[in-house]
Amino acid sequence: MEELVALCKRRGFVFQSSEIYNGFAGFFDYGPLGVEIKKNIKDLWWRDVVRRRDDIVGLDSSIIGSPKIWEASGHVAGFSDPMVDCRESKLRYRADQVFWARVALAETGEVLGAVSVMESGTMEAEAQAAADKMKRKAAKQGALAPLDLKDLTQATAEDLSIIPSPATGNPGTLTAPRDFNLMFQTAVGATVDGSNAAYLRPETAQGIFTNFKNVQQTARAKIPFGIAQIGKAFRNEITPRNFIFRSREFEQMEVEYFISDDDDAWRGEHQAWLDFSWQWLLSIGLREELMGRDVHEAHKLAHYARACTDITFRFPFGQSELQGVAARGAYDLTQHQEASGKGMEYFDEATKRKYVPHVIEPSLGVDRLFLALLTSAYHEDEASSARHLNGACLHVGGEKRTLLRFHPAIAPIKVAVFPLVKNKPELMAKAEGLYKQLSMRYNCFWDVAGAIGRRYRRMDEAGTPFCITVDFDTLEDDTVTVRDRDSTEQVRMPMADVIPYLDKAVHGY
Ligand code: GAP
Repeated sequence: MEELVALCKRRGFVFQSSEIYNGFAGFFDYGPLGVEIKKNIKDLWWRDVVRRRDDIVGLDSSIIGSPKIWEASGHVAGFSDPMVDCRESKLRYRADQVFWARVALAETGEVLGAVSVMESGTMEAEAQAAADKMKRKAAKQGALAPLDLKDLTQATAEDLSIIPSPATGNPGTLTAPRDFNLMFQTAVGATVDGSNAAYLRPETAQGIFTNFKNVQQTARAKIPFGIAQIGKAFRNEITPRNFIFRSREFEQMEVEYFISDDDDAWRGEHQAWLDFSWQWLLSIGLREELMGRDVHEAHKLAHYARACTDITFRFPFGQSELQGVAARGAYDLTQHQEASGKGMEYFDEATKRKYVPHVIEPSLGVDRLFLALLTSAYHEDEASSARHLNGACLHVGGEKRTLLRFHPAIAPIKVAVFPLVKNKPELMAKAEGLYKQLSMRYNCFWDVAGAIGRRYRRMDEAGTPFCITVDFDTLEDDTVTVRDRDSTEQVRMPMADVIPYLDKAVHGY
């Protein structure tokens, strides 16, 4: 993760927000390369999910809406995480991310204290090491009882008196868990008495539900059909962490796919969305061996939900949710129908029946997908030992290079143009002509600085799939060298063939 974060800053993908003021936790700014990737992600999603499907239409609803929306949806009452504070360090934790266990001697049951660790793939080992240290410090003999790790939501007041704070290691400084609502509040208009409080939306989904009738009627949509939206969402996360994986301001790409209210209709539709989403993620270059599925157990689902499966990804810090695909029944539309008094029913012409549709909700974070694509694409190779993140690696002529193997459609710069030398005007003019022509279609890069090898390396690190060199032969026969980022192979082709060649790689046709 450190390497990715460093690369993101060095090459202008992602910066810490408010960096000149020492940053602002949970917020990020996307630099020149990052903004291109984000735009590519959103454009591809919109193309494949909205424009290329006849059963989906788009929407762009406001970020701030009536607070009644969030009361009806259940967010005001229930969109919260349990948090604990450390009174000493003033640090705040999500109670379900801090794990603890009593440390006791196996034979006598004597309790020596408790250990606490932050949730991670290595937390069992960390907790055991801390428990062993406690036993040594207490100069006790005999084996310890096996540790029973639980999160802080399962700690009583008595437990809390011996659980050490993850910040200071001192016991008794953590508060009891309490619910913390994740919605950001703001005030709309000039009144200052609190009656004008409103919320920044924590998901784009509710804007879709509240517009269900507007869209269905104006688009004359027939069930099954979906409404898609891309937009910002805000959550006052207690512990934003893992870079852009969990931030306080992020973007979502969501579909609410309205289906019949037949009891079993959701099964096939839910599976179809899982398959569609999986294939789409593959199509933009996510490596399948890093992907997984996490089927939520029935007893952990919200009371109204029929099913929820996450598409997971092996991020540098572990396997975690990338996209959720939920079958939400008729819950949201019913809630809004009751709260607003406006009918949310759909009239089925064929059966002459009115009903509140059920819904399948695929929901994907743009920033989280950005991180997954970076992780998938990141490769390093070194002269002595080839290294890589999460799988395959390349080894190029014994030289060290870092490269981002983005799918050409995702790559922020599609092609770079290099004149071999800059002191030959005809050669420069030829290269400039090609650069201008290509710039009409793609985000291109022009580089005349340094040896060709160094220029290649700079582009490898930015994830540019193709570099074109204009050399002395170009002046004779109008051919150029196109160098492939991943294989480093170079092919010579007529300049006239360059655009069809790049189009095929970027768009697939
Ligand atoms: N409407 C359903 C919904 O919002 P969610 O699981 O809370 O469900 C959906 O969020 C997706 O949004 C997640 O799978 C993730 O990709 C993204 N997401 C959620 N919280 C995020 C955060 N704090 N930072 C970045 N992305 C987030």
